[in-house]
Amino acid sequence: MSGVGTPDFFYREAQRLGYVARSAFKLIQIQKQYKLITPGASVLDLGCAPGAWLQVACQNLGPLERGGSVVGIDIKDVKVPSSHCDSRVRTVCADVMSLLKERARVLSPQGRGFSVILSDMCSSVSGIATKDAALSCKLGMRALSLAVGKISSVDSDDCELSSFLVA
Ligand SMILES: C[S@@+](CC[C@H](N)C(=O)[O-])C[C@H]1O[C@@H](n2cnc3c(N)ncnc32)[C@H](O)[C@@H]1O
Repeated sequence: MSGVGTPDFFYREAQRLGYVARSAFKLIQIQKQYKLITPGASVLDLGCAPGAWLQVACQNLGPLERGGSVVGIDIKDVKVPSSHCDSRVRTVCADVMSLLKERARVLSPQGRGFSVILSDMCSSVSGIATKDAALSCKLGMRALSLAVGKISSVDSDDCELSSFLVA
């Protein structure tokens, strides 16, 4: 929905196409530009609720015979959407901030790790811009840490916006 209560274009398009949220179009655009998800990929989707990225990720795995998997993690319990998802998609309820890298790896096919890690994590907005930006930065750094290894500022409490912007 748009801020004024009238459903906006993307909200209506998501409904028409069977996506559970308009955020689907963000990943569709990213995928169009970067082709991150290839047939048979193993995808980890951090902050997956309500599941629109799970839907788009699954659509990009190609036919069932090609294999692949999509694992979604969210702090909220989330059901796999019934449309655009198949048996290759599953969800786990967990807080990514305290998720160990080893535990994430165990969730991947044969424990071999994921070929793509997506993150659309965002915490509830407090309205205090600096607080929200810092939290958002922490979630982003955590995702980066899971994807590429330990990032020193992630584990400390001082994930400053300036260091994120410089990085
Ligand atoms: C913008 S929504 C994601 C939308 C999703 N990509 C989709 O297309 O349906 C952000 C999600 O991040 C989740 N989130 C925020 N902090 C989290 C954390 N520490 N661990 C796991 N999930 C988190 C929220 O619960 C929320 O569902």
